[in-house]
Amino acid sequence: MEVARDLQGRPLRDLRISVMDRCNFRCPYCMPEAAYPEGFRFLKTAERLDFDEIERVARVAAGLGVTKLRLTGGEPLLRPNLPDLVARLVRIPGIRDVALTTNGVLLERHAAALCEAGLSRVTISLDSLDPAIFVRLSGGRAELSAVLRGVGAACHAGFPGAVKINTVVQRGVNDAGVPDLLDHFRNTGVVVRLIEYMDVGNRNGWSHDDVVPSSELLRRIQTRWPLEALDASYRGEVARRYRYADGGGEIGFISSVTAPFCGSCSRARLSSDGQLYTCLFATKGADLRAVLRDDRNNGDEQALRQVLVESWCNRADQYSEDRAQAFIGGEAALVSRKNEKIEMHYIGG
Ligand code: GTP
Ligand code: 5AD
Ligand code: SF4
Ligand code: SF4
Repeated sequence: MEVARDLQGRPLRDLRISVMDRCNFRCPYCMPEAAYPEGFRFLKTAERLDFDEIERVARVAAGLGVTKLRLTGGEPLLRPNLPDLVARLVRIPGIRDVALTTNGVLLERHAAALCEAGLSRVTISLDSLDPAIFVRLSGGRAELSAVLRGVGAACHAGFPGAVKINTVVQRGVNDAGVPDLLDHFRNTGVVVRLIEYMDVGNRNGWSHDDVVPSSELLRRIQTRWPLEALDASYRGEVARRYRYADGGGEIGFISSVTAPFCGSCSRARLSSDGQLYTCLFATKGADLRAVLRDDRNNGDEQALRQVLVESWCNRADQYSEDRAQAFIGGEAALVSRKNEKIEMHYIGG
């Protein structure tokens, strides 16, 4: 099988599919309430790719080397009948792993059906176990207890892969609560991953001072629970894995600010309106929806394949590496592309 490679020789292995640009949270670092008020114009249903179109893109991507799919949003569980899409995606030849990233609030309702449909793994975003901080960080839209019930439902559903928690750590906002979070999930089999806060989108007012470097967090955690490094579970894994020396389980660190991993980045992102982005920090995508809906192509996958190949093979993205280099040179502000990046709720983080 042909494997698409970009200008640095990086293969395309991983496609993250945003199925819904809306979200039922208003996390200040992603969709601050002031920028997404009642009446904000989200995509109309007809503007979003339908399940046939998503399946066609995934099939073509699988033919170019993609083995992993991850469904994201906005909030993917706001998309009606999501288990039907999962069932279609897991049947695509070459696809070995279909995962989901969710804020968890609707997971209690959907976990069993998703598992039955063949979803391998679920990752739940959760930044704090302090109810007041949680409410602030979700924009006052949800209760912590609902998310925890969602995590419980995921654990009970019997997904063959891990249930994970993604925690974005912001200095002075939720970093003091990290030990509580770890303590809560120790000995449960749930893997917590601590993510360095990044400058995704254009609205979070990111500053380097908000970032808690993973090395610092690791030191802090080790004073309470000694940790042992583990090997990556696959090539190009984003998280660095550790296990508690006392057998309490595994945690991970995602350090895209202080230790960028662009060199092994094999991820493409498909927005809910069918644009293909080759970087989380991209400013422009390739319009797959136009190709999918062009009558002249008559359902032919060759045209779609050609756009995907061209997009990936001309890829030179390494935003996080550039940001890190610029920071060393004292010019991080120059690198953060002001008001030009695609917003995260279109491409799912
Ligand atoms: P696994 O398949 O379980 O290893 O998940 P993953 O780490 O690939 O996906 P997940 O959605 O859980 O990613 C966790 C977080 O890591 C994301 O929310 C981002 O914050 C960050 N991340 C993932 N991929 C990239 C990437 O390509 N670039 C950067 N800069 N950050 C990424
Ligand atoms: N930095 C790092 N991760 C982020 N996420 C959202 N915004 C940021 C940011 N600024 C994470 C969410 C979720 C995933 C989709 O992206 O917490 O786990
Ligand atoms: Fe928060 Fe995720 Fe929704 Fe953005 S998409 S507002 S990070 S829950
Ligand atoms: Fe990949 Fe872009 Fe993230 Fe680098 S910054 S790891 S190229 S998505």
